[in-house]
Amino acid sequence: MRRILIVNSKGGCGKTTFATTLAAAFAAKGKRVFLADADRQRSSLAWLKRRPQGLPPIHALDWSKGDHEMPDVSQGFIFIDGPGGLRGERAKDLVAEADDIVVPIMPSAFDWDATVAFLRRLSEMKRIRKGKAEILVVANRVRRGRADLAQLQQQAQDAGYPLLTEIADRVAYARHAASGSSVFDPPAASADVLAQWHPLIQALD
Ligand SMILES: Nc1ncnc2c1ncn2[C@@H]1O[C@H](COP(=O)(O)OP(=O)(O)OP(=O)(O)O)[C@@H](O)[C@H]1O
Ligand SMILES: [Mg+2]
Repeated sequence: MRRILIVNSKGGCGKTTFATTLAAAFAAKGKRVFLADADRQRSSLAWLKRRPQGLPPIHALDWSKGDHEMPDVSQGFIFIDGPGGLRGERAKDLVAEADDIVVPIMPSAFDWDATVAFLRRLSEMKRIRKGKAEILVVANRVRRGRADLAQLQQQAQDAGYPLLTEIADRVAYARHAASGSSVFDPPAASADVLAQWHPLIQALD
């Protein structure tokens, strides 16, 4: 069972979008997929409740109240919609048990300042220092040709957290959020939209 924690102390960066999209992407590949919601807002669980029958199944785990019981299965993936920061003991437990840590970041100077501080705290944690979990930083809500993207690419590179991939700003993400689906559910999104996720999916598979 591979545990993938999606986390960033910066709110609104795309944690729930990533957790739900990745869960749907792996479910579409026929994998056994759990979506665990460790955020008090329980947005991922709400999305799963809206998910139409007939789409590839995703199993819900409610971790929003503090416990985080692992399902008793050996094969599969758990995508964890993480809490807002790393301060609580529980967040530390989630990091200590993660195989991969995905950090979405939006191209803005404010987001960078908050996220780089977060990444540094994350990097000091034992699990990361020992190389047992990898940090995967991904730009989200990117608009091509904008100076803020070039700046984020440079800053991320210089800080030692190069961007794994870049997810474009598209209204489709908000639409899917509202309907319990994702760009990986039928009717499939355009190839260029899906291709932006492939480096991340490859790193997690
Ligand atoms: N790539 C994208 N393109 C367009 N809209 C996006 C994209 N990613 C996220 N959004 C929208 O931005 C908003 C915030 O995203 P999301 O809820 O995934 O962030 P979050 O980190 O989970 O927020 P919170 O801190 O509140 O839990 C949502 O309305 C979502 O639909
Ligand atoms: Mg959220």
